[in-house]
Amino acid sequence: MKARLATLFGRAAPRLSAAGPADADAMAELHAKAFRRGWSAEEFERLLVDTGIVAHRATFGRILIGFSITRVAADEAEILSIAVEPSWRGRGLGGRLLDLQLRRLATLGVARLFLEVDEGNTAARRLYARAHFHEVGRRVAYYHAAGDPRPPSNALVLRRDLA
Ligand SMILES: CC(C)(COP(=O)(O)OP(=O)(O)OC[C@H]1O[C@@H](n2cnc3c(N)ncnc32)[C@H](O)[C@@H]1OP(=O)(O)O)[C@@H](O)C(=O)NCCC(=O)NCCS
Repeated sequence: MKARLATLFGRAAPRLSAAGPADADAMAELHAKAFRRGWSAEEFERLLVDTGIVAHRATFGRILIGFSITRVAADEAEILSIAVEPSWRGRGLGGRLLDLQLRRLATLGVARLFLEVDEGNTAARRLYARAHFHEVGRRVAYYHAAGDPRPPSNALVLRRDLA
């Protein structure tokens, strides 16, 4: 009984794995739900065929519910985007995706990892604080999409050393 339950719950758990060009459509769809300016499926496809890109996805069954995508250049890297399906947020999936990316980047010899985050993005800032990122810069009034009535917001530049 215990084993059967474990199997059932195991099957029902989100699965983390490497992402590839076949995920471009689903990633663009999720990205559009998560950010002011969405990236098209073509933009994702271009990134995902690039050998300097490290990307992971979280899937539930056949549905993509999260992803993280990073560009690597020599021993530095930049997290380009991380997102979790709204109904799955707050359950540790963002943390698991980030942790997997950090471990993969470390095996590739990345020593320093950077990212930009909106100063007002509490969930993302907590995610990065828990993963030991620290602030190294601030870009004032950095985020502003054309036609967006909201005022521009500041970007924080965060850094995490891996080596
Ligand atoms: C940021 C994001 C990826 C986090 O994913 P997630 O699966 O919710 O992450 P976790 O469940 O691992 O939680 C991470 C932290 O955020 C906190 N958090 C989650 N949802 C939150 C919310 N709505 N408000 C405040 N904090 C929240 C969690 O409590 C946790 O912090 P803690 O460890 O101090 O408790 C997700 O919120 C998202 O997709 N946001 C939109 C896209 C985005 O902003 N990406 C980051 C761009 S830099």
